[in-house]
Amino acid sequence: MCGIVGYVGSQSALDVVMAGLKRLEYRGYDSAGVAVLADGGLAPAKRAGKLVNLEKELAEHPLPAGTTGIGHTRWATHGGPTDANAHPHLDNAGRVAVVHNGIIENFAALRAELAGRGHDLASETDTEVVAHLLAEEFSACADLAEAMRLVCRRLEGAFTLVAVHADEPGVVVGARRNSPLVVGVGEGESFLASDVAAFIAHTREALELGQDQVVELSRDGVTVTGFDGSPAEVRAYHVDWDASAAEKGGHASFMLKEIAEQPKAVADTLLGRIDAEGSLTLDEVRIPAHELRETDKVVIVACGTAFHAGLIAKYAIEHWTRIPCEVELASEFRYRDPILDQRSLVIAISQSGETMDTLMAVRHAREQGSKVLAICNTNGSTIPRESDAVLYTHAGPEVAVASTKAFLTQLVACYLVALYLGQVRGTKWGDEIRAVIRDLAGIGQAVERVLGTMEPVRELARSLAGQDTVLFLGRHVGYPVALEGALKLKELAYMHAEGFAAGELKHGPIALIEEGLPVVVVVPSPRGRSVLHDKLVSNIQEIRARGARTVVIAEEGDETVTPYADHLVRIPATPTLLQPLVATVPLQVFACELATARGNEVDQPRNLAKSVTVE
Ligand code: F6R
Repeated sequence: MCGIVGYVGSQSALDVVMAGLKRLEYRGYDSAGVAVLADGGLAPAKRAGKLVNLEKELAEHPLPAGTTGIGHTRWATHGGPTDANAHPHLDNAGRVAVVHNGIIENFAALRAELAGRGHDLASETDTEVVAHLLAEEFSACADLAEAMRLVCRRLEGAFTLVAVHADEPGVVVGARRNSPLVVGVGEGESFLASDVAAFIAHTREALELGQDQVVELSRDGVTVTGFDGSPAEVRAYHVDWDASAAEKGGHASFMLKEIAEQPKAVADTLLGRIDAEGSLTLDEVRIPAHELRETDKVVIVACGTAFHAGLIAKYAIEHWTRIPCEVELASEFRYRDPILDQRSLVIAISQSGETMDTLMAVRHAREQGSKVLAICNTNGSTIPRESDAVLYTHAGPEVAVASTKAFLTQLVACYLVALYLGQVRGTKWGDEIRAVIRDLAGIGQAVERVLGTMEPVRELARSLAGQDTVLFLGRHVGYPVALEGALKLKELAYMHAEGFAAGELKHGPIALIEEGLPVVVVVPSPRGRSVLHDKLVSNIQEIRARGARTVVIAEEGDETVTPYADHLVRIPATPTLLQPLVATVPLQVFACELATARGNEVDQPRNLAKSVTVE
């Protein structure tokens, strides 16, 4: 949440920072602001609303040229999305500017203390106190990095802070605790950002900052220390995707681009994980095989779409390994005092690797002695760093707020983990594992075929733009797919959408069915457990008899559903457990098109942000 950029070098800081903010706008779009060091002073500009409002402001009132600057795009926590609450925040003398991501929990006490010393605080934010505290400390030590260290030691909560001071031109200082911040290292220039996407057009060399560290950037390089001033070790890494991967590539939205990239994302996530004999080699899973053999319970923690991936994984893990598997919303996990020990394997699924709820669940699990395996899409992010092992999904950067390709790759990673557990525990034979891997290797092509047949789905979505409600039904692995279809529609089209386990209908939700209500039904393969398929066909008849307009997603060749489908969406035949990889795709396309038809911006739905770094 919130996107932060800092720059020191020889280019126009404003240009670099604004281009970086554009790439980070997915993190929050309630307001945006910049500050540039120029002519011995500090030149700030900020505006409520999207970045375009700030661009207009800068066109009307240009800032002086400078080569050191910071910027921010906001997802509001403390104080509404107004000009006054937009970052950067300045001290009363207008010499220091600070941008912030996170929540400073003790800000009220600090604010009262500052007011007592005569400071005049103009916004409702928690951030502004930092600008005033930095100004006080700087006036005593004349060193912005030292001032930042002193201030950070007084702050409680989660924060990334980036600041500049007019009396220390050519320096940008950042700090992080429980909130993302990466350093980009160029030739005679350095960058700070919430995400490498902000500086990938300039450099692919990055440094991972650790917890409770302060970084000082100047043209001469980068210095990192702990909050106590001790020198700190940092890990350098090379970003293996380039600027074009973070562009729309001719698509109308990032979401459409990311939906289209799914065949490749799925294939990339399988790459290098299967040896010449067809066995799984998950090198990154550094939990010793004997510990995995002793695991007596798997607990999956995740949020939102990643949680739905976890719900699907449960079916595969229990079926292939016979280990009991629980799936829990990360935000609920630690508050119910879950029963965990050294024999529990906790799997944390997160695209961003920064979701605070999931991170807190990871920490809680490790405190209980459990091993944690992260499934993550973002190299160098906090969740994999704090886990015992990680399996990276190779979806590439996901920019649209609604998760699509990351979800499919999370599923692939979950299937790989389930098979790996089956392999090390001997509950799955080598030939069985190879058969599933062959099926997974064919999924990219199957998704490609689904994508090629989506025009009727788009047409249907447009025709439903005036609806208030859409329901989704599924059974077995189709149930989480229904939940995911409903989530996509809620977040993008702002419609009432709910997913149900089809068997649960008769216990209440069937009362919602009325004449013409669209109900999307995900039908299991008739070639799997036919009883499951037949039960769902009965459910379709029950809702149709009560007036529902049925949208049936069924395997090619399954003719039993044809008489009961007002709209039939065909998906390629896949093994039962893998069906979500193809069945989810029409639901993504459906939500994207329906939202567009309602005039919504699909990449940046209202009230949301891509990376949820507050609890
Ligand atoms: C929905 C969506 C969110 C995320 C959730 C977890 O489309 O994107 O529900 O799935 O916020 O985010 P990560 O995976 O980054 O932990």
